[in-house]
Parts: sequence; C-alpha cells; structure tokens
Amino acid sequence: MDSVTESDPTLESDLERLNVQRDVPLATRNTFGFEARAEFLATATDDASLIALLEFAEDRQWPVFILGGGSNLVLTRDIPGLTLCLGDTRIQYADAPGKRVHVTAGAGCGWHALVVDTLAHGHAGLENLSLIPGTVGAAPVQNIGAYGVELVDRFVSLRAWHRPSRQFMTLGPDDCAFAYRDSRLKRERGDWIVVSLTLAVGGDTPLVTDYASLAAQLAKHQDGAITARTVSDAVIAVRQSRLPDPAVIGNAGSFFHNPIVKAETFAEIAREHNGIVSYAMPDGRIKLAAGWMIDRLGYRGTRRGAVGVHQEQALVLVNHGGGSGEELLVLVREIQGAVKDAYGVSLTVEPLIV
Ligand code: EPU
Repeated sequence: MDSVTESDPTLESDLERLNVQRDVPLATRNTFGFEARAEFLATATDDASLIALLEFAEDRQWPVFILGGGSNLVLTRDIPGLTLCLGDTRIQYADAPGKRVHVTAGAGCGWHALVVDTLAHGHAGLENLSLIPGTVGAAPVQNIGAYGVELVDRFVSLRAWHRPSRQFMTLGPDDCAFAYRDSRLKRERGDWIVVSLTLAVGGDTPLVTDYASLAAQLAKHQDGAITARTVSDAVIAVRQSRLPDPAVIGNAGSFFHNPIVKAETFAEIAREHNGIVSYAMPDGRIKLAAGWMIDRLGYRGTRRGAVGVHQEQALVLVNHGGGSGEELLVLVREIQGAVKDAYGVSLTVEPLIV
C-alpha cells in the first residue's frame, strides 16, 4: 500500500501511547468480507481520545477513515493513514414530552443491539428497523430505513465532531437534511464524526404495519395482539427469509438505491414494463423497486466467479467467499448498464466504495 510513514521519529511512541495498531486486516470488519488492510487503526473510546487520535493523524497530514460496522462498504484497496473506530457503546434513557423517552446511544453501539435494548425497556419505535447491520453512528449518515420507517421518523438529535471547525456540535433534524438514504452527513462525508445519537421512542409512538411483506408476515400470526415485539419478530422473519446473513454470506444489504423518477417518466416505463413495483412519494414523484427491475432482467441468483446477485433478493449483491471489491464492481457496472438499456433509469450505488 502507499505508506504514510517515512522518517517519523515520534511515531513509535505515539502509536503505543494512543493504542494505534499497524497493518490491520479488515476482512472481518466489512460485511462483504473483502480482503484489505488498514495501514493504522485505532478506537476512540471517549471525546478526549477522539481528539487525540485526530490530532495524531492531522499533525502528520494522514488521511482519516471512519469505520463503523463495515456493513455499507466495498473495499477495493488497502486504506492508507488512520482508520478510526468509535468505541462508545453506552445506551441511556431520559424522560421526554408526551410520555416518550429519549434514548441516547454511543456511535459504537451496534444498531440492532440498540433496537433490542429499547424493546426490552418496553419502548416501541425502532421495531421496523430490527436486524439492520451496522453501528449507531452510521445509521443517520444514510438515514437507514426499512418496512415503512426511516431513522428520521424517530430522530431527535445527534452529537458529532465537526472536523473543519474542530468542535463538537449538536445537530437537530433540520441541520441533518435527511432524505431517502441520504443526509447532510453523507453529502459532507469526511467533515463529520458522529459520536452519539438521540432518538424518541415509547409513549404514543405508533406501530407501522402497512408495508406489504411485513403485513403479510403479521397476518400469519393473527392470534395475539400486535405489539412492538411481534412487529420486531415479523421484521426479523421477513429479513431472514429475503436478506442473506453477512456472517454466512458476504453482502452489504441493498446495493442500489430504489430510483426516484418523475410521474411522467414512470408512466412511460410502466407502459412498457407491466407490473413494475413502485411507491408514490409525498412530492408526487415515484420510487421504483430496483430489485424488481434487476430480477426481471434475469440477474437474481447470477454468479460471476466468487461474487453474484443474491438468490432471494436481486437488490443484494454477495461475495460467496474469496471475491474482491474490483470483481464486484465489474458486475455492478454490468447491472447498471442492463437497467439503463431496459428501463432508461440510472441506478445509484448505496455502499461507499473505497
Ligand atoms: N422484488 C422482486 N425481486 C427481487 C427483489 C424485490 O420482484 O429480487 C420486488 C418485491 O417483491 C417487492 C419490491 O420488489 O414487491 C420491493 O422489494 P422489498 O420489499 O424486498 O424491498 P426493496 O425495495 O428491495 C427496500 C430497502 C431495504 C429494506 C426494504 C424493506 C432500499 C435500497 N432498500 O428494499 O433496505 O429492508 O425496502 O423496507 O431502499 C438496505 O438498505 O440495505 C435494505 C435492505
């Protein structure tokens, strides 16, 4: 890899003082399981260690890469400079208006661990987002969403280090400019390091059960009352039936965004493609199911060497083992080209490609 370390007399003592590891394999730290290495890697456990680690890298003009759960990442090369993980996994609760509760979690907490903890405390609100891989710190960056709920629907605020102004800042919903799988944090990637996230749960937070596959799963168990816990169980069942477990088969969830088109464009596409699955957006535009489009082109279950398209969900690309990020990108371009030719629509990649 391109090394950032040439004649640096204080390097060794700084590495030891700050607990920075050298040449760290990342295959178990990205859910595709791609082989790559971090030149240096460290975990910031609190504000002070975050600032010290950033200073250490900035003094040397090293690049800094923030690594969460590695569940939305395609590694095509080694990462030069400092790879930084967030180690705060605490979860705290505080009373809020409307009998709701504000739950604040450290960026290093696993997202699903937070969902489980809120449900164990009896607070509804995050059940539709059960089993989403990744960390709490990454969740607001792409405004995670599933089965009719997005992070923005429960968002109160987040605390983040702003690298350009060198200070911690608390951002509310408007500051974050959330949109479908998007936020200001994503658009200004590199400037922000999320350290904690506060969400509103419990009280009168409504259950959301109208997403088609979730409703069908809930209907199978009509015997008892529908609670946050039964919704969570149903979401987990749907996810497990359609989405591959990264511990078993490498993947990063949905690989492409569902494209959003104007109503007129949709009318043209729908005339040619009978039965295309779509959702009306509040602004009148139409979101198309990219998985449906890719599936109809015959890609579901396709394999190209060690990488391929998941057998049960054409929006999910997989590494069957031993594949590489470069290999995957060849398949990605092929699918994007085929969808463009057939539907006239460009597919945007969801994970970060490094
Ligand atoms: N479909 C097919 N064939 C496929 C895949 C999907 O015909 O191979 C059809 C389905 O039958 C359904 C429609 O396409 O009618 C939509 O499929 P699904 O409900 O599985 O949802 P999705 O649009 O493919 C989105 C999110 C998922 C989220 C689900 C449920 C994006 C990019 N993906 O997928 O998020 O879990 O809805 O809310 O918005 C993720 O971002 O990593 C992710 C998994």
